Amino acid sequence: MSSSINTVAVIGGTGNLGTHLVRALLVGGFSVTILTRQGSSTPQPSFSPYTVTFTPVDYSSPTSLQSAFQGQDAVVSVVATAAVQTQKTIIDAAIAAGVKRFIPSEFGVHTRKPGIEKTRIGELLKGKRDVVDYLIANEDKISWTGLSTGFFFDPAIKNSLLDISPSTATATLIDSGTEPWHASLRSHIGRAVSEILRHPDITKNQYLATASFNVSQKQLLEIIEELTGKKFEVSHVNSKDIYQQGEEKLAKGDYSAFVNFLKVHFEADGAGNALKEEESANEKLGLQTEDVKAVVRVLLEETGVLAASA
Ligand SMILES: NC(=O)c1ccc[n+]([C@@H]2O[C@H](COP(=O)([O-])OP(=O)(O)OC[C@H]3O[C@@H](n4cnc5c(N)ncnc54)[C@H](OP(=O)(O)O)[C@@H]3O)[C@@H](O)[C@H]2O)c1
Repeated sequence: MSSSINTVAVIGGTGNLGTHLVRALLVGGFSVTILTRQGSSTPQPSFSPYTVTFTPVDYSSPTSLQSAFQGQDAVVSVVATAAVQTQKTIIDAAIAAGVKRFIPSEFGVHTRKPGIEKTRIGELLKGKRDVVDYLIANEDKISWTGLSTGFFFDPAIKNSLLDISPSTATATLIDSGTEPWHASLRSHIGRAVSEILRHPDITKNQYLATASFNVSQKQLLEIIEELTGKKFEVSHVNSKDIYQQGEEKLAKGDYSAFVNFLKVHFEADGAGNALKEEESANEKLGLQTEDVKAVVRVLLEETGVLAASA
């Protein structure tokens, strides 16, 4: 059986990451089918000049899934966080349909990092870890690749999710703000997935990590101050307080606590979650790191914070 991958079914390809990922696969020359929930009201994006097939599927029905997977070499799941548990049924159907490669909906925190299961964020990500465990247990039937990416950088900058707000010229730094963490543009993640599927042999049954770059809040603040020519009003917040607020939210069943634990996981002093060169799959996938300042400039231009350069 040829190991090459040409046809790809993308679950959640209409979403936040999915649209970027589908475009990268199309640019990479793959034939793409987007699976959507039956009755979904999510708008179907245009990928002009490329064409994709949209196939409504009942994710609880093995028959519906299996029929959608006929003829697909790979399945990439970018399903919403709330639905990651559904992926075991999806994997079973992919196996039954003879799919060669499954990429689960990871795309964030490195869920295989030793000891992560003992942390709050690791507990909240148990659903994702269970899916990779399931793939490992079934790797004689289907091959898999997991991909950790750090923060999605472009929406984080555009929506001031990193606590640096160009519109109010304010910033809240966690602890000293100097802890480096890793982040990826969604376009970079799309290219990474495309390269994984172009090189199935060297990416088989592996959990990989990629990033556009490592950066700290303080470095970002300095870049944004320089680009906007504004001096920001800076305050500091203790990571222990953010963590405690997360615990309080969780006790009330408020899962927005995830964001508290995410910030502490990456940005607290001493967190140690920058992506080290020896941990990065960028070289294996032929991907370059990007220039933070150039990326931030473009994102601030796209949001109208900076005038577009000629
Ligand atoms: N690293 C980061 O900073 C970061 C940020 C956000 C997300 N993520 C991760 O990236 C992955 C994709 O997240 P995303 O934000 O791109 O997802 P999303 O946009 O919220 O959802 C993706 C698609 O999933 C489908 N969907 C939504 N709710 C569903 C449900 N309850 N059951 C089944 N399907 C559902 C929808 O497609 P249809 O309506 O067409 O079916 C939707 O377009 C997740 O693993 C998430 O944890 C990481």
